[in-house]
Amino acid sequence: MLQALNINKIFKSEGLETQVLKDISLEIPEGEFLSIVGRSGSGKTTLLNVLSTLVRPDDGELIYQGSDLTTMRDSGLNRLRHADFSVIFQFHHLVPYLTALENTLLPFMRTIKPTSRELVERGRECLERVGLAGKENRLPSNLSGGEQQRVAIARALIKSSRILFADEPTGSLDKSTGEEIMELITDLNREGLTVVMVTHDPEYAKLANRSVTMEDGIFVQ
Ligand SMILES: Nc1ncnc2c1ncn2[C@@H]1O[C@H](COP(=O)(O)OP(=O)(O)O)[C@@H](O)[C@H]1O
Ligand SMILES: [Mg+2]
Repeated sequence: MLQALNINKIFKSEGLETQVLKDISLEIPEGEFLSIVGRSGSGKTTLLNVLSTLVRPDDGELIYQGSDLTTMRDSGLNRLRHADFSVIFQFHHLVPYLTALENTLLPFMRTIKPTSRELVERGRECLERVGLAGKENRLPSNLSGGEQQRVAIARALIKSSRILFADEPTGSLDKSTGEEIMELITDLNREGLTVVMVTHDPEYAKLANRSVTMEDGIFVQ
């Protein structure tokens, strides 16, 4: 479904060059749940950001549905990301002054009239799916950390994404809340969503079909 071929990424700061990804190749079949583990600084986030097209690699190819995304223009990438990809982060990135429902509808705020009844109904269904029925009108500050992460997942659901990229989605949650979020992600994968997840937790990595370990910009093992 998504194939990375010989990806390299170098960051330059203050005259210093760091090669963060070294000739990385990876194939993610449709429906897979892949986990990426490794020490802090090993390049996991950078790899996830390259795979989700948030960061362009210096060279290499990223093949999705027959096209190389590394050469696609920003406008094309934006369209593709909007249609097929969703990203959730360790810190949920909700908009603080929008309600849970409005945050869920956010991907469509620019393209469809936010008052579209059908869309609002779908937003409610997505929130129900993640266990937030009745909390649609709460601001993020009135939701727990786990609930905020659920809103981020609802936002991924409303788009009917094909791939969910998750960067340490349980990283800021307590153990039992983290387990609930993992259960939700696992369920979504069973229903067909392809999942690529960075995690620190070996227990959560085991929930995936496959796990790759990064060390200093390469895969080890
Ligand atoms: N935008 C950036 N500019 C410069 N260096 C960066 C940038 N992003 C990440 N790095 C460096 O790349 C390395 C890998 O970072 P990252 O991909 O965030 O690792 P991980 O997610 O495994 O902790 C680190 O040494 C980090 O300091
Ligand atoms: Mg990281």
